[in-house]
Amino acid sequence: MRALVADARRPALAGRFDAVLVDAPCSGLGTLRRHPEVRWRRGPEDITRLAALQREILDGVAPLVRPGGTLVYAVCTLMEEENEDVIRGFLAAWPRFAVDDPSRGVEGRVREALTGDGFLRTLPHRDDLDGFFVARLRAGT
Ligand SMILES: C[S@@+](CC[C@H](N)C(=O)[O-])C[C@H]1O[C@@H](n2cnc3c(N)ncnc32)[C@H](O)[C@@H]1O
Repeated sequence: MRALVADARRPALAGRFDAVLVDAPCSGLGTLRRHPEVRWRRGPEDITRLAALQREILDGVAPLVRPGGTLVYAVCTLMEEENEDVIRGFLAAWPRFAVDDPSRGVEGRVREALTGDGFLRTLPHRDDLDGFFVARLRAGT
């Protein structure tokens, strides 16, 4: 394995990969139960700025996903602007990607956390976990 430090908006990587995981920078508002101080550090302008960065990172790595490959987007926030809105905007701009069948390879409590849109969302009060949002996208062949 090789580690590379780079700006994911412009990754200096050649070739295509079977899978790309974007553990994206986010507001962290899904972690409030463990980090209540986050509420004092975040304002509406942060959400807008981070959503733009998240989208830029997805745009930057999308060309690296091979046909038939997987792109996973994960954030520890429950803000729709950083979750569904980012993914919807991305899918509109990159028609070769689609939401992957959310139930494939997923069972038990994870399956219960799937949303009707095919994403995964954990809720602190329901799941006794931080609030996470995950989208698994599949690149067309
Ligand atoms: C949710 S954290 C990822 C944590 C990491 N997966 C780990 O386990 O330590 C998001 C990370 O993205 C980094 N980041 C922010 N902007 C970035 C960019 N343009 N390119 C690459 N990484 C970025 C942040 O510094 C932060 O470390």
